[in-house]
Amino acid sequence: MKIAIAGSSGLVGRSLVAHLRTGGAEVLRLVRRTAAAADEVEWDPARGLIGVEKLATVDALVNLAGENIAEGRWTKARKIALRTSRLDSTRLLAETIAHRPWRPRVWLNASAVGYYGTRADEILEETSSPGAGFLAELCRDWEAATAPAQAVGVRVVQLRLGVVLTPGGGALREMLPWFRRGVGGPVGDGRNWMSWIALEELLRVIDSALVNPALCGPVNAVSPQPLRQVEFAAALGRALGRPATMRTPAMVIRLGFGEMGEATVLASQRVRPAALERSGFAFGPSGLEEVLRAQFVESGEGAPPA
Ligand SMILES: NC(=O)c1ccc[n+]([C@@H]2O[C@H](COP(=O)([O-])OP(=O)(O)OC[C@H]3O[C@@H](n4cnc5c(N)ncnc54)[C@H](OP(=O)(O)O)[C@@H]3O)[C@@H](O)[C@H]2O)c1
Repeated sequence: MKIAIAGSSGLVGRSLVAHLRTGGAEVLRLVRRTAAAADEVEWDPARGLIGVEKLATVDALVNLAGENIAEGRWTKARKIALRTSRLDSTRLLAETIAHRPWRPRVWLNASAVGYYGTRADEILEETSSPGAGFLAELCRDWEAATAPAQAVGVRVVQLRLGVVLTPGGGALREMLPWFRRGVGGPVGDGRNWMSWIALEELLRVIDSALVNPALCGPVNAVSPQPLRQVEFAAALGRALGRPATMRTPAMVIRLGFGEMGEATVLASQRVRPAALERSGFAFGPSGLEEVLRAQFVESGEGAPPA
């Protein structure tokens, strides 16, 4: 398979490029600068420019592009950047597919469980209604921006990612220093649900979505075992052999991170991977402690004995 990836320098993209190449795929990376290698394709989502000639023979597209959601407070300018970086890029890809000589068989476009907003204990499947708030609206518009490609018959999968866990980056890397010192713990009252997916599992979900026509439309890319914050913190503490009972009050998150903290750290999303389950996807180990221990060993950090 020849696969183009947008957002390839990010947390997921870097691992995905290596994973797909190891599996024998030919990978092209869309880059927002002058192309400097044969596997690079120039694009400039803000100016609507894309090197479509190189893409003409590409079978599949994976779009992970967007400014980092969890980087800093959501000022007015930051919100504009979060939206335009996702909507400009997705619209450009959709319009290119619809109106230029390029029809990939499948397009995987990132989205997030933020689509559902914050929903207490409700079990959320792909058919659940969208939530309210900036992030939920952004995810809805982001997914809708793929419509021109769907209209010309491309199989589009909107991957609603849970929190991607890897010691190498993202949320887990932010948490680890605190938990290692034994001062980690749940946030808020600890009852909020967290829907997560190990990076390795996400790569297998992407493999499956690339080839399985049963996966089409929104797909929750999450572990079948979402956890309450209090359970998540306890599992991480056990995996590190450290106490993990130091609570961070919701007020501290609100004061420190404002709306961003409210919509990410304090959100409650109990998401079920219903589409993946129906498609026959073979989930790997789903116990968080087991997953984390394996990751710590893999990353060379070791893990304390069980
Ligand atoms: N990681 C998570 O826990 C998580 C959870 C839910 C949803 N998601 C979503 O999944 C996608 C991939 O996640 P990730 O963690 O790999 O994200 P990431 O590390 O923040 O990487 C996103 C990539 O998007 C590109 N990008 C950055 N600013 C951009 C801009 N202004 N315009 C166009 N492209 C821009 C960059 O790649 P280039 O420099 O190569 O262009 C960047 O490396 C993101 O859209 C994210 O919102 C992630």
